[in-house]
Amino acid sequence: MDKIILTGDRPTGKLHVGHYVGSLRRRVELQDSGKFAKTFIMIADAQALTDNIDNPEKVRQNIIEVALDYLSCGIDPAKSTILVQSQIAELCELTFYYMDLVTVSRLQRNPTVKAEIQMRNFETSIPVGFFTYPISQAADITAFKATTVPVGEDQLPMIEQTREIVRKFNQSYAEVLVEPDALLPETAACMRLPGTDGHAKMSKSLGNCIYLSDNPDEIKQKIMGMYTDPTHLMVSDPGHVEGNAVFTYLDAFSKPEHFERYLPDYANLDELKAHYTRGGLGDVKVKKFLNNIMQETLEPIRARRHEFEKDIPEVYNILKKGSEKAREVAAQTLSEVKSAMKIDYFADTDLINSQAEKYSK
Ligand code: TRP
Repeated sequence: MDKIILTGDRPTGKLHVGHYVGSLRRRVELQDSGKFAKTFIMIADAQALTDNIDNPEKVRQNIIEVALDYLSCGIDPAKSTILVQSQIAELCELTFYYMDLVTVSRLQRNPTVKAEIQMRNFETSIPVGFFTYPISQAADITAFKATTVPVGEDQLPMIEQTREIVRKFNQSYAEVLVEPDALLPETAACMRLPGTDGHAKMSKSLGNCIYLSDNPDEIKQKIMGMYTDPTHLMVSDPGHVEGNAVFTYLDAFSKPEHFERYLPDYANLDELKAHYTRGGLGDVKVKKFLNNIMQETLEPIRARRHEFEKDIPEVYNILKKGSEKAREVAAQTLSEVKSAMKIDYFADTDLINSQAEKYSK
């Protein structure tokens, strides 16, 4: 069976370096690997609206930001289909039918949705659309018969929910849908890149993100102000690398050649960590090293972004074309789903003929 990728992001802000190491970098590798017959990348605006009822303009404005971030990271519209969720009406139809296969109590157990409900203080006034978004996400994935869904850990409950829906559907109706596998980031640091303040989650409201579109000064300023080890007061003090955001970023971003280029006194990250732990290595030196790496990593991304920014109508056109292409695929799946569910009356001449025969007697 052909392997197919589908993944996506909610367009609620510009993408940051956490998105990059957690997913974007890998998507580009997968896209270029030749191992996948198709790659679909979804801007999940309809899902973003489920908890942004009060702010549709935010979602609208961020479609282009996310698209530019994708393109600047190297997602290539010739190889990957970039689509906008709301433009694929078939996804709503699939969602509606999948709702028959999921219980309320099953949705209530979803740990990611539970955490989000708490975070947003929905308490008893949970929008139904928000509560059921795991079902809509199952439609996103299955519409494209995705085998592989590159996501962060927090999305595992959605993949599990999707797999259950697929099994239930195929068992109840016919073998139409494909059970997907999640593909998690390679390392713990990539999976959970902390904010620059050491906070576990990067978020716009905390102001602790380095964005892919930040300029060199912003990047430098954010890195030089990063949270390290509060017990490491003097250079000579022994330091901790665990829970030290600078070292977590190095885990996620540094490569052997960075040491050769910017810090040749150390062969690798283990040696640098050992020195820091022993004492005698100052935060500023480590931060300057991280800054060199981040500048080198983000420079080509920013340059490519500037190129795409010169022709914004063309970027919208890429999204439009991608959405049209995606829609054809989703329509094909929907048609298979509907015939499996026996709701294809007008295409079923056997049905029409047998009913005619019944009434001709
Ligand atoms: N829930 C994902 C997020 O919050 C976005 C998303 C929507 C998605 N549909 C998807 C991810 C399908 C993977 C597959 O980031």
